[in-house]
Amino acid sequence: MTVLVTGGGGRLASALLQGLARREISALAVSHQQLDICDPHELGPYIGKLRPTVIINAAAATDVDRCELHPNWAYAVNVEGVANLAEAARRVGAHLVTVSTDYVFDGAQDHPYRETDAANPQSVYGQSKLEGERLALPESTVVRTAWLTGMTGGSVLRTALARLADGDEVRFVNDQFGSPTFCWDLAEAILDLAVDQQPGLFHVVNAGETSWWGLVRELAELAGFDPEQVQPISSAELEPPRPAARPAYSVLATEALTAAGYRPLRHYSEPLAEFVSAVR
Ligand SMILES: NC(=O)c1ccc[n+]([C@@H]2O[C@H](COP(=O)([O-])OP(=O)(O)OC[C@H]3O[C@@H](n4cnc5c(N)ncnc54)[C@H](OP(=O)(O)O)[C@@H]3O)[C@@H](O)[C@H]2O)c1
Repeated sequence: MTVLVTGGGGRLASALLQGLARREISALAVSHQQLDICDPHELGPYIGKLRPTVIINAAAATDVDRCELHPNWAYAVNVEGVANLAEAARRVGAHLVTVSTDYVFDGAQDHPYRETDAANPQSVYGQSKLEGERLALPESTVVRTAWLTGMTGGSVLRTALARLADGDEVRFVNDQFGSPTFCWDLAEAILDLAVDQQPGLFHVVNAGETSWWGLVRELAELAGFDPEQVQPISSAELEPPRPAARPAYSVLATEALTAAGYRPLRHYSEPLAEFVSAVR
């Protein structure tokens, strides 16, 4: 089995590569510079030559506000890129796994979103990811995840820790609720699905739900800072205002994963503690 990971320079890709190495699966990760998923003339021959068993697409336009301001970029990477990969995978008989987002939902619900709930994205990012999903399904695996933190790469939590360490007061919204998820747990679930070449749409997030304010308070406590350094604000108070709308509530239910016989991910507080020990 050979696994190709696109978007090799990203947070999730790095966790996937570590998981693949642990499983002793032959794998190759290619960065954006090495392989542009938007270029079918480059992609087709590359995949035709490598003939991977599975392609895991960890490449995406992930800067939500930049997507809002540059929709052509968002659609090129998140829609055309996935279409190119699906076509290239089909040609060599490879199984495609691609990753999507909780931002496909509008956030109006007050209980966790299931895979069967209607998507209604409120941002260019969410819309582009939804269109990418639809191009990949039904034969590929589509994994929707949320609020990612990795051991590598930038993240809200890493920035918050640095500011807390400087003694700053930090302000986080207490009116957006979601499923904080850690890349090393997510990567294991993605690899289980990838090895089985399990098609379908799966929500994969760590268990538990909180607001950004609640999450950063927990982070502060675990890291030994005064949780009162973390102050709640509303989304309307964010300065400067963000170009893209965020769902107020985007907690994901992971029933499809468990129904298919896979273990649900543990509560987010466990990997949160691992994150703090690793980066402090
Ligand atoms: N981060 C989150 O909170 C979050 C939440 C829900 C879902 N997701 C989804 O999870 C997946 C992984 O996200 P992540 O946080 O690991 O993202 P990331 O760290 O931003 O990594 C994405 C990678 O894709 C690369 N890329 C961009 N355009 C490309 C192209 N045309 N061809 C090839 N590579 C390209 C980027 O390279 P350059 O930087 O060099 O362009 C970057 O290395 C994405 O599908 C994302 O939508 C993320």
